[in-house]
Amino acid sequence: GKVRAPTHIISTISDDRGEETCYAGVPMSSIVEQGYGIGDVISLLWFKRSLPRYCTKFIEICIMLCADHGPCVSGAHNTIVTARAGKDLVSSLVSGLLTIGPRFGGAIDDAARYFKDAYDRNLTPYEFVESMKRKGIRVPGIGHRIKRDDNRDKRVELLQLFARTNFPSVKYMEYAVQVETFTLSKANNLVLNVDGAIGSLFLDLLVGSGMFTKQEIDEIVEIGYLNGLFVLARSIGLIGHTFDQKRLKQPLYRHPWEDVLYTK
Ligand code: ACO
Ligand code: LMR
Repeated sequence: GKVRAPTHIISTISDDRGEETCYAGVPMSSIVEQGYGIGDVISLLWFKRSLPRYCTKFIEICIMLCADHGPCVSGAHNTIVTARAGKDLVSSLVSGLLTIGPRFGGAIDDAARYFKDAYDRNLTPYEFVESMKRKGIRVPGIGHRIKRDDNRDKRVELLQLFARTNFPSVKYMEYAVQVETFTLSKANNLVLNVDGAIGSLFLDLLVGSGMFTKQEIDEIVEIGYLNGLFVLARSIGLIGHTFDQKRLKQPLYRHPWEDVLYTK
C-alpha cells in the first residue's frame, strides 16, 4: 500500500489544494455567491463553523466600533510616531499593535475569563470585586482614562443595545453591568469599558448560539480568542493613521522638553 510520510504541520481551518481555497470547508465562490461578510469569514477561520447572522453581525459591529479611537490612544500614538520616523506601513502598524495588552484593548479575554468564573461561581459583584482587590488584580473590562459615569462609552451602549435586541440571553453582560454598578459606587471612572462589554457579550454569544459545547467555550476562553477582535479592528485605524501621517508629510516627531519632568 501507499506509505504516508509523517507531516510536520497540521492545519484544520483552510485548504488551498483544490481549484479554489476553502475556509472551514466552504469554497470561496460560495462565500461570495451567498453574500457572506467579514463576520462570516471570521466565524469560519476562527471558530470553524458558520454562525447565525445575528452573531456575525455582532462580530462586525465589534470590528467597526473598535476600528479607531482617535490619535491620542496608545496604539495610534505609537503608529504616528513610527510613521513620522519614516518607517514603512508594516513597521508603523506593528508598532501600534504592540501596545495592545492588559491595559489597552487587550483586556477582552481576561474580562471574559473573570466574569465567567465569577458568574458561574455565583459570586455577588461585591464578593467578586473585593476578591480581585485582595489578589491585587484590577478587574479587567472595568475602568477608562476618559469615560465616566456621566460620560459613558457610546460603543458599550451600542453593543448592549444590539445584544439585548438580538441575543437569546445576555446573562453575562447583565452580570458585568451589576459589577459596574458596584465599581461605580467606588469611583466614577470605573465604568464597564468596551473590552469588558465585548468580553461579557461574547460569552453570551457563545452560550446563547447553542453552537458550541461547554468544553469548546472553555477552550475559547482558555486559549484567548477575543483580543483578536480588537487587534483586527484596530489594525484598520492604525493603517489609516499611517497613511494620514504620510499624506500630511509630517516630519520626525520629537517630544517637547517642557512635557518631561527631568529629575534625579
Ligand atoms: N479594577 C479595580 N480598580 C481599578 C480599576 C479596575 N479595573 N481601574 C482603576 N482602578 C482603581 C484602582 O484603585 C487604581 O489605583 P491603583 O493604581 O492603585 O490600582 C485607581 O482606580 C486609579 O486608577 P488609574 O491609574 O487612575 O486608572 P487609569 O485611568 O490610569 O487606568 C485603565 C485606566 C488602565 C483602563 C484601568 O482602569 C485598568 O487597568 N482597567 C482594567 C484593564 C482594562 O479593562 N483595560 C481596557 C480599557 S478599554 C480599552 O483600552 C479599549
Ligand atoms: C480605545 O478604544 O482606544 C480606548 O478606549 C482607549 C482610550 O484611552 O480612549
